[in-house]
Amino acid sequence: MKPYFISTAIDYTNAVPHIGHTYEKILADVLARYQRLRDREVFFLTGVDQHGQKVQQAAEKQGISPQAFTNALSQEFLNLWKELGISYDAWASTTDPIHKSVVQKILSHLLEKGWLYKASYQGYYSVRQEQFLTDKERGVDGAFGDQWGEVVFLEEENWYFRLSKCHSWLLSFLEKTPNFVTPSFRQSELKNAVLKMNGDLCISRPKSRLSWGIELPFDPEFVVYVWFDALINYISFAGYLQEESKNHFSTLWPCDAHLIGKDILIPAHGIYWPCMLHAMGFSDDQMPHLLVHGFWTLNGEKISKSTGNVFDVHQAIQRFGLAALRYYLMRDVVMGRDADFSEERLLSRYHAELSNGLGNLLNRSLGMVSRYRPEGLLRVSLTEECTTLLEEHLNLVHRYCKEMDSSLVHAGLETMVEIVTRTNVFIDTTAPWKLAKEPDQESRLSAVLMTLLQSIRIAATLILPITPDAGAKILSQLALEPLVLRDEIIIPELPEKYFAGRATPVFPRLLEELSTDATISPK
Ligand code: MSP
Repeated sequence: MKPYFISTAIDYTNAVPHIGHTYEKILADVLARYQRLRDREVFFLTGVDQHGQKVQQAAEKQGISPQAFTNALSQEFLNLWKELGISYDAWASTTDPIHKSVVQKILSHLLEKGWLYKASYQGYYSVRQEQFLTDKERGVDGAFGDQWGEVVFLEEENWYFRLSKCHSWLLSFLEKTPNFVTPSFRQSELKNAVLKMNGDLCISRPKSRLSWGIELPFDPEFVVYVWFDALINYISFAGYLQEESKNHFSTLWPCDAHLIGKDILIPAHGIYWPCMLHAMGFSDDQMPHLLVHGFWTLNGEKISKSTGNVFDVHQAIQRFGLAALRYYLMRDVVMGRDADFSEERLLSRYHAELSNGLGNLLNRSLGMVSRYRPEGLLRVSLTEECTTLLEEHLNLVHRYCKEMDSSLVHAGLETMVEIVTRTNVFIDTTAPWKLAKEPDQESRLSAVLMTLLQSIRIAATLILPITPDAGAKILSQLALEPLVLRDEIIIPELPEKYFAGRATPVFPRLLEELSTDATISPK
């Protein structure tokens, strides 16, 4: 089976990572870990976008080289992903010589095939924002606003990619590939944008105003436009155009999910990228799939360094713990929709579903096993009430897989919560503490305890991709392996004589003061 290839957007290294980048990387990590549980080989690519105007400007401000500046910021991302347990397989950094050489090879190829041309462009240019302005940027009075600073009329030569030549191809591709973008309402937005698209894409910047980029192999006075460079990371770090020995590209491509935020669908990923691939000679069934997530706000406002509406993710991990943060970010948002970060909701989800839910079920159950079977739990045949419950659980596991296959992690987690709830009801109805007092119920009690252990094993398996450390801790306390989520799911038998590990709280309650005095200070 083809390995599951998931990539995230590569983050700009002009600022430190915030909760938006964090959410995206955790979501990709969860989907990658889920596929591994499915026993599928995974290639998870993430990284940093290191070229461009903003990096050059920020470096200039600090009086250091762009390379030194971007290295330091890239390290911030690497550190955070390590702290968050992001299990990526490959790291894309666009200043990597291999990436640069692939970008240059692609450009030469596109030139050869007639996809690129040089032309001069005349227009109004904002010196402050270093970009050409169009009539769209004019205010109601017809003037360019103060935000553009000094605006001059400029004529500049540049290289262009014949995007307009792809127009009808892209429209027909979208028509016949309704699931190119998920969620589907984003594909409709994309189609509308494609209908309005016109003109070609300027893919170069003269070195006189931007030197921090990849040089055009056939015109050294220019560097490549940062988006053209960045999008290519998805193939350059997957082995495209590389020596035979390193080339696993044909087994990996197409990418199963480019996970991106809604702000970079149009035009970059939805228009430029498929057109670039089409021009490079990729066929329609070699197009990747785009998985588009929504935006997080903080206190209902846009997350923004300049307004101070941002918080330190390291501090959030310290305060809530990794499990609570990862769980909340995956549980409290509908994939594709926006969400507002709320500490109150984080605490209430965590306490209700993890501390009082799964965590408490684990403690209670292990407590009963060691209390009622201190000499070990001998395997018995399960009674009907037990097999019925486990069958219901298995149905929920199948639902979990269906939701996770559609990247609906919040809905997948609902099944985990339901398994815990049903198991608690099972404890109340079978009342093991009563069975323990009745000698003729010995075998039934063993069956009930075995079913509790199996139920928790199932719930722990489902939570493994979301909170890997906590999931592994639960399984180690159970002294059981997780399930393998193949198409046919089998619950392995317990050993003939079972001894549980020691019960220690996996989801400790967070300090009560956090519920009332819960503010994360701005960085
Ligand atoms: N460098 C480009 C991507 C190039 S991909 C070939 C970029 N970088 S970014 O740092 O600005 O954003 C990285 C990712 O974080 C994007 O997918 C973006 O949508 C996502 N987010 C940025 N802010 C976000 C929120 N507030 N909420 C959720 N995701 C957000 O764009």
